Amino acid sequence: MKSPRTKVEVNGFEAKHYDRLMDVLMLGRYQHFMELVIAAMNIQPGDAVLDLGSGTARNLCIMEKYAGPEGRLVGLDISEEMMQQAEKRCREMPHVTLQYHRIEEPISFENEFDHAFISFVLHGFEDEDKEKIIANVQKALKPGGVFWILDYNEFDLSKKPFFVKYAFTKIECPLAAEFIAMDLRNVLERHGFGDFQEKLFAWDYVRLLGAHKLA
Ligand SMILES: C[S@@+](CC[C@H](N)C(=O)[O-])C[C@H]1O[C@@H](n2cnc3c(N)ncnc32)[C@H](O)[C@@H]1O
Repeated sequence: MKSPRTKVEVNGFEAKHYDRLMDVLMLGRYQHFMELVIAAMNIQPGDAVLDLGSGTARNLCIMEKYAGPEGRLVGLDISEEMMQQAEKRCREMPHVTLQYHRIEEPISFENEFDHAFISFVLHGFEDEDKEKIIANVQKALKPGGVFWILDYNEFDLSKKPFFVKYAFTKIECPLAAEFIAMDLRNVLERHGFGDFQEKLFAWDYVRLLGAHKLA
């Protein structure tokens, strides 16, 4: 169920122009940034990848370059505008499928993905829904599969410069300020994940956290 404290449900103008807005926000470097992130995921030809909150499928298309035509790529999202762009982008790729599905609702996938990816989505959920999403991923991944979370890193907001405090208190959703203070590894461990790896980006404000599903 949508929390009134979230901003990750993107609709209307923002959804229609999402890719362009991200490019402007990142001074034209968003595609390159995502390519660096996805290169770090070590996706192999033939791999199956689940993208939760897949948006316009820009990231699915980068992952597809690694998984190839033998791979299987599945994107889940709920925004009509984002999905329309994703469907257009992936129409030549039968091995990429897109499903309208709330990622905190139960999913039918079981032990079938090598990787699960969630990019700038998890911070926008109440704790109980974060737990449901993580449990869904645990079920969907093969044993040894990796859950990749690209989102804000953990940090102490009180020690950051004024403009960062401003962004997290006045622009981002209240849930984001809670997310940066949470011990995400601990939550993941409770759900049977371990063997963590991480890569930091954007002056360490953004983290790609990889968590293996322990057998
Ligand atoms: C900030 S955008 C990120 C899109 C994409 N992951 C990216 O990095 O470019 C958040 C996305 O999550 C989707 N979303 C938000 N809440 C969702 C939910 N409960 N279930 C599925 N998708 C959701 C939105 O529709 C939107 O496409």
